[in-house]
Parts: sequence; C-alpha cells; structure tokens
Amino acid sequence: MVGGEGMELSPSIVVTKGHGEAIYLFLKEKKWLDSEKQPKDLENGFLAIPVNENCPSSEDEIIIYDNNQRIEIRIEKVNTASSPPSVEPHARLRASITKWLETSLVNDDFSPLQSREKAIMELLSKLPTKWEKLGDLILLPETAFSSDKWTSIISQENQLSLWKCVAEALKVERIGKQKHVSDDIIRSSQAQLLLGDSSWVELLDFGVKFGFDACKVMYSSGNVTERHRIGNIDLKGETIVDCYAGIGYYTLPMLVRGEAELVHACELNQHSISALQWGAKANNVADRLIIHKGDNTLTMPKLEGVADRCHLGLLPSSQSVWKLAIACLKEKGGILHIHMNVDEEKIEQWIDSTISLLQKYTEELKRNYDLKVNHLEKVKWFSPRVRHVVLDVEFTRCK
Ligand SMILES: C[S@@+](CC[C@H](N)C(=O)[O-])C[C@H]1O[C@@H](n2cnc3c(N)ncnc32)[C@H](O)[C@@H]1O
Repeated sequence: MVGGEGMELSPSIVVTKGHGEAIYLFLKEKKWLDSEKQPKDLENGFLAIPVNENCPSSEDEIIIYDNNQRIEIRIEKVNTASSPPSVEPHARLRASITKWLETSLVNDDFSPLQSREKAIMELLSKLPTKWEKLGDLILLPETAFSSDKWTSIISQENQLSLWKCVAEALKVERIGKQKHVSDDIIRSSQAQLLLGDSSWVELLDFGVKFGFDACKVMYSSGNVTERHRIGNIDLKGETIVDCYAGIGYYTLPMLVRGEAELVHACELNQHSISALQWGAKANNVADRLIIHKGDNTLTMPKLEGVADRCHLGLLPSSQSVWKLAIACLKEKGGILHIHMNVDEEKIEQWIDSTISLLQKYTEELKRNYDLKVNHLEKVKWFSPRVRHVVLDVEFTRCK
C-alpha cells in the first residue's frame, strides 16, 4: 500500500530493539520476513521488521519467547521507504569497541575454554542499542556495559579509555549512565556521569531554550511532538496552570511560542525548579511565570478559578488532581490537557470513562459546564501495547 510520495507502508512487527535480534531470527526461520525490505529504527527504542503475506495478522498468533519471557509485539503498517542511516552510530560504536577490546583484553579475561574471538563476540552482543542524546552528552541505559562479562573486564585502569572510546564513536564529549528514573513522586533521575566534568545540559528545541542537570532531573526527548503541538497553540491573553511543570517542558513552549499571558507552574522537585528558573530567564519570560513550589494537591487549591487551561503532564496518570484542575478553570470554562498511558485497545473506553468522571467532578464542584472532547493526541508508544496519549477536554458554561 502506498501512502504518498516517498511513503511505502509495509506490515511490520514492532518490538523494542533489545528483542530485535530474537524476533528477526524467529521470523527468518518461519519464512515470514519480507526479504525485500530492511528493518527500520523507530522513535523511542522500537524497531519495525517488515513481514510478508504468510505472517499471521493477529498479534495473538505470534508467540515468541526470549529468555523464557514472552516478547510483547505489535503489528503495524510502517513507512519503510527510507530506512534511515541511523544504524551508523551503532556500527561506529561496534567498530570502536572491537578495537578497544582487541587492545584491552588480557588473557585472564577469557576462560581457557573460550577463544578470544568468542569472548569478543559475546561482549559485542551486549553493546547498548539505544541511548539518549542531550546536546554533547549521551546518557546510556542502565543496562549498558553491565552484563557479568562486561563488569568483569571493566577496571579502574581501563574504564576512562572505554568511555572515551564510546564518546568518540557517538561523537559527543560527555557520557553518563541512566539509573532507572525513580518511581518516587519527584521522578528524580540518579544518572551517573562517566566522562566529563558537569552534567548540566542546554538544549534549543524549536526556538525554546531548556537547561537542566541531566543527572538530577529527567528530560523526555520522546515527547517532542507534543511539546511542539502545545507550543503551536495561540495562547495570547490566556492564564494557564501547569500542574506538573518539571523543567518547563510545556511551560516554556506555552510562554515562548504560545505567548501565554501567565503560567502558574506547580512543581515540587527543587532541581526541576532551578532548571525552570534558568529556562524562564534564558527565554526572557520570567515576568510571565509564577512558580508554586510544593505538592500540587496543596498549591492548586490556591489557584481556584484563575485558569483558561490546565496542563496535566504526569504519567502514568494525573487523575489524582483532575478535580482540583477543574476547580482551577475560570467560571466561564476552559480546557484540560490530560496525559495518560492507555492500552491501545482500550483508548475509546478510557475516553468515555474519563468524560464520565470529569462530569461527576464538575457536578460535585457545582460548576455548570458542558464537556466536549476536542482532540486525542497519540504522543508515543510507551511499551508495545500501551500508548502515551493526551486528551484535550473543553469545558463551557451551559447557557
Ligand atoms: C513527568 S515529569 C514532567 C513531565 C513533563 N510535563 C513531561 O511530560 O515531559 C513530572 C513532574 O511532576 C512533578 N511532580 C510529581 N508529582 C507532583 C506533585 N504532587 N506536585 C507537584 N509536582 C509534582 C515531578 O517532580 C516532575 O518534575
């Protein structure tokens, strides 16, 4: 099926890159691969592997295990016309690390039963396949270089040369390693800097300057389309409550590009607040920003009736403050932008139940509003079956 110039939509199996090899081999064995097309890197660490007409069209019929764990997949039509040269950094990393291993491995690093070549192959098979690039800093995933084999060969003496080798291959100056973004309420990042003196990062995204300490707060590069969409809305004359402001992912585009009159930014992490203050100054919008430090369940009640819209950017869900957000809207009404992680198959159901709940809150608040879904934005895949979505709901005072 052809979907426009330069567009060739091919049925593909989409998986996280970590499972790419296992799925590829499985499809090859089954003779389900579309041998004319190349796998394609997608956003956010996913890989699309084109399949032929013999491959079943239902996900439930494709059951594949990797290390005794069922691999989550989805089947989707993906534009495979222009497979990007994004394998290039992976190939460069592999080539540089191969050289590094050839000079760094000593005899003790492999057992008498294992040849040097086999040891190198094993180490190379565990190289990271995805990372986050923030300016001249690469944040490697937590699992990078941490298999038993890798930890047994990385030492005090050789680690600096290893990180330099990674930095050179990926064309950056600094290397850090992600530690799982804490499930704590402030989503604190505890990334560790492996190469470089500072983890402060400055980025320019669509005309908006962001600055933050990458080892202390999280930055979601994957939300770029949503940042642009929100920044594209004409917000002149509007007052907005950003209920989870972070470093200003949405607050800053709303002020800089949307030209909002005033943003009330609720945030409880001091590291994020410092970054937001830096961004407000760097973008010359500090006079239109009021930061409310602390838990938003305590700060939002002070903002009752002030907002034309509220931004609710917390995943997996911001439901705990939906009622407070409705109360923040002006008497005449306004808009809520509700972020949520939702199972792809249950999106319609979720919209219905969300509207019912918002209606109930509206009645409890004795606000006389009509509710309307203005838009549902599918931001990105959170996992193979779960989408990060944003629901725009408009509240208008009943006549
Ligand atoms: C996911 S991050 C920021 C997200 C950003 N809006 C985005 O989607 O990229 C969520 C932010 O909400 C803040 N946060 C979480 N719970 C909060 C609460 N109860 N009150 C105020 N801020 C909170 C965290 O500190 C974090 O900076």
